Amino acid sequence: MKNAVHEDAHEDDPVLERFHFLVNAPALFNAVTTAAELRIFAFLSGSPGASAAEIRSFCGLPAHQLRVLLQAVCTTGLLERRGGVYHNSSVAEELLAADEEPDSWSHILTGWKEVYYPAFADMTAALRAGTNTALSAHPGDEPTLYGRLARNPPLEEVFHRAMTAFTLRSVDALIGQPVFEDVRHVLDVGGGDGSTSARLVARHPRLRTTVFDMPSVSRLASGAGAEAGAQSERVSVVPGDMFTDPFPEGPDAVLFSHVLEIFDEEAILLLLKKAYDALPVGGRVMVYGYNVSDDETDGVFGARLGLYFNVLASGRGMAYPARDYERWLSEAGFGEVGTVPGLPYEHGLSLGVKR
Ligand SMILES: C[S@@+](CC[C@H](N)C(=O)[O-])C[C@H]1O[C@@H](n2cnc3c(N)ncnc32)[C@H](O)[C@@H]1O
Repeated sequence: MKNAVHEDAHEDDPVLERFHFLVNAPALFNAVTTAAELRIFAFLSGSPGASAAEIRSFCGLPAHQLRVLLQAVCTTGLLERRGGVYHNSSVAEELLAADEEPDSWSHILTGWKEVYYPAFADMTAALRAGTNTALSAHPGDEPTLYGRLARNPPLEEVFHRAMTAFTLRSVDALIGQPVFEDVRHVLDVGGGDGSTSARLVARHPRLRTTVFDMPSVSRLASGAGAEAGAQSERVSVVPGDMFTDPFPEGPDAVLFSHVLEIFDEEAILLLLKKAYDALPVGGRVMVYGYNVSDDETDGVFGARLGLYFNVLASGRGMAYPARDYERWLSEAGFGEVGTVPGLPYEHGLSLGVKR
């Protein structure tokens, strides 16, 4: 009897429910990604209430295999089956249906499938070794994934398309911050393909930016700048290595967006001090990215990112809590240090001013 009571309580335990979901999640993640790659969400957006036969004539999967796939995606709630026909859920409609838009989650799914998740099979070995052993799957001798991707342009493009989509999903919270009213020229260190900069100058007509990233990535940034048309006049691109090359001169603000979290304390302090030296008095530094909670128990996006860095990307780094960034900003010499917390997708913006 005692046991039965104990078992009932156990079955209601939300941790158990989450455990059951997460042990099946890798398969379901791949099912959702496959459905996105087959453009089933885009099809259902234009043809809501389609039957399995109609979906089949669109995507060409054998009937039985499609049945298996649709059942899997329905268990996630992203597809709904009502009266024997299929609909996108409102979440699928919002995140996955417009799969040709640059901010579609479909690009993120493909990026995580091709770049992140294959590496996680190496997790135990990499964490034991204290370095990113999964990098050996990518040819080259550069110590980070970013360096090695330059040798594989198609994969580098998949990677940056995913990063851009994620940035576009989260960037509005950054570009709307009042601090951008107080600066005129932002140095976007590790600015990737320039999508954050393009959004920044579009929102702030008197602002200009300089995107500073590795040469192979700067080529992508030049392309994005050209696509942005007239705005590209206010986005310049300077190729370089943020550790070994000097920061371009002139900006009164330095932005690190999704950059410092890649590195360890020593490298972060070096970069913050370099930003301090490059700025005029009164210049601003902005650290934007994922923050896990200060007690380091919350943040699933941050958890995934920290593991990805350590297993594959850089062998170090994590989605540090905001208080770590605040300490490092003070240590680098900045004053008026503080954080805008609680931005979407577990993001925060830590700020400082050169005294
Ligand atoms: C996670 S991405 C962030 C991109 C962009 N800032 C954003 O928020 O989406 C990190 C960027 O840092 C760049 N990066 C990494 N190491 C670098 C280095 N040593 N010098 C210059 N850029 C580097 C990578 O090429 C990549 O574009």
